[in-house]
Amino acid sequence: MTEKMSGFGNHFSSEVMPGVLVSGQNNPQKIKDDLYAEQLSGTAFTAPRGENRRTWMYRALPSVARVTEQENVIFDNFAAAAEVQDAGPVPMRWSPRPMPEADCDFLDGLMTLGKDSESIEAVNISVHSYALNKGMENRAFKNHDGELLVVPYAGKIEIITELGKFTLAPTEIALIPRGMTFKVDLLEGPSAGYICENHGKAFRLPDLGPIGANGLANPKDFLVPDAKIEKDGVYDIYSKYRDRMWVSRGVPTPFDVYGWHGNLVPYKFELENFVTFGSISVDSPDPSINTVLTSPSHEVGTANIDFVAFCPRWQVMENTFRPPYFHRNVMSEFMGSVQGVYEGKATGFAPGGVSLHNRMVPHGPDLDTYQNGITNELAPHKLDNTYAFMFESRLPILPTKCAVESGWRQRDYLQCWDGFRKRAVNQ
Ligand SMILES: [Fe+2]
Repeated sequence: MTEKMSGFGNHFSSEVMPGVLVSGQNNPQKIKDDLYAEQLSGTAFTAPRGENRRTWMYRALPSVARVTEQENVIFDNFAAAAEVQDAGPVPMRWSPRPMPEADCDFLDGLMTLGKDSESIEAVNISVHSYALNKGMENRAFKNHDGELLVVPYAGKIEIITELGKFTLAPTEIALIPRGMTFKVDLLEGPSAGYICENHGKAFRLPDLGPIGANGLANPKDFLVPDAKIEKDGVYDIYSKYRDRMWVSRGVPTPFDVYGWHGNLVPYKFELENFVTFGSISVDSPDPSINTVLTSPSHEVGTANIDFVAFCPRWQVMENTFRPPYFHRNVMSEFMGSVQGVYEGKATGFAPGGVSLHNRMVPHGPDLDTYQNGITNELAPHKLDNTYAFMFESRLPILPTKCAVESGWRQRDYLQCWDGFRKRAVNQ
């Protein structure tokens, strides 16, 4: 990545040569080299200023000139092709998905694991996995339905967008705005990860309340790519629109933006830079203390989606059961391991593994973790080399049939709580 620009929600600008961007206006009559001006609006024109996101691009060809007759294509197990299958209020967990053996690029390897509605117009969140062993070459993708938060756990990819490109590897995360065309190349493979598709309000940094002005994910650590162009190239551009996949075949490269400015941008963030807060007296804070990004709903304090990261940190609490506590949550939790061992599960939750604990579904530490939690000496302890994440949503995430029936779902997950015995209480 040409990682020159940093910040969150800023108005950025970048050009591959001087003179593309002009001061004082967005759409001059004459643009350098007769480039075309085009705006990408990420919010309604009239959204409040604090919410309003848009970017102006100055490009060799307007996007509409790349639209051909649309051909509907099916990607097995992705988007509308992945039907939901309500499995009821039961904890579910999956081992890491096997890497593909046949040639498989980012698009081929997309698999929808869950969504919160069977009706696309009602979806707020959908969750996918991806796995690839080759680059997309002359295929590009754009998603009309929502922005994409990408969380890798294996390999290294390069994401090439209309506004520029950047690399992405485990412990980093990236966001691709709704409607922005991109493709994924493979730098070190195979590569795999998870995607949270957010149909609601754009992700933003959470308010910090009494924490103050600094901490958690600091704005300066979000990186935005510089403009980068590709002179030639012919592409098939795939669009996910209303959860179905369509394609325009054989069109000129969409990566032809010679300059851009705006605040609707792709970005990435290194989770190593997350400034973790916690208790220095007793008890474990609620996981919301680890919120990296949030997509608010219309109900104050209740997120459409929170993206939460569990990063390396010290535990020093006295007289405290330190692992995550038993709980039932009105919010639904899609949780994954990126690296190392997660503090709440002694086994069965390897990097690449995920669990789903929907609204009010009971869950908590497994038996080994519990036993350690009630007997460990409470010296200061560093939870090191551990990265896990959670997509937490106000609505239940219905698993897809392909996820429920996959060979890597742990059908014995409930057994990790076998062995808890009813206490004999003398009263
Ligand atoms: Fe939980």
